[in-house]
Amino acid sequence: MNMEKIFIIEKVEDLSKIVDFILSMKISSPLIFLYGNLGAGKTEFVRSFSKNFGIENVSSPTFNIVHRYENDKVKITHIDLYRITTLSHFLELDPYQLFEDSNFTFIEWPEILEQLDLKDYNLIKIFIEIVDEKRKVKILC
Ligand SMILES: Nc1ncnc2c1ncn2[C@@H]1O[C@H](COP(=O)(O)OP(=O)(O)O)[C@@H](O)[C@H]1O
Ligand SMILES: [Mg+2]
Repeated sequence: MNMEKIFIIEKVEDLSKIVDFILSMKISSPLIFLYGNLGAGKTEFVRSFSKNFGIENVSSPTFNIVHRYENDKVKITHIDLYRITTLSHFLELDPYQLFEDSNFTFIEWPEILEQLDLKDYNLIKIFIEIVDEKRKVKILC
């Protein structure tokens, strides 16, 4: 990780600036970790990102754990680890298969994955914080 960029986001529509920024880096099949408290806007970011590819039906995967979206342009995997407390439970999702079969993989509540060796993957970390009613979004990659 050697690049850091911060965006201040005032409304949902402004998230497209971050989407454009990430796409402009042309990182191949990134794993995108989304950090932030409940309600920070992690799912909303995946929604904005997916909309860019014409996918309009993104919902929170908190209950199903994994959502997959696919059209003729893109394959997106959206994982929410809020309810996953052990690494073995995570591995039961067959995650490496999911990563490989996706152009973009988003993971909410990724803290449990810090202990994995993911150096073969193109990791992007996004930290979302609410500050003075705005979203402060920090991107590390
Ligand atoms: N950048 C934003 N600007 C304004 N409202 C936002 C933004 N991001 C999220 N929200 C709103 O905050 C609420 C929680 O967002 P959500 O993405 O579900 O949070 P999380 O997935 O981090 O728990 C939703 O109602 C959403 O519309
Ligand atoms: Mg969410």
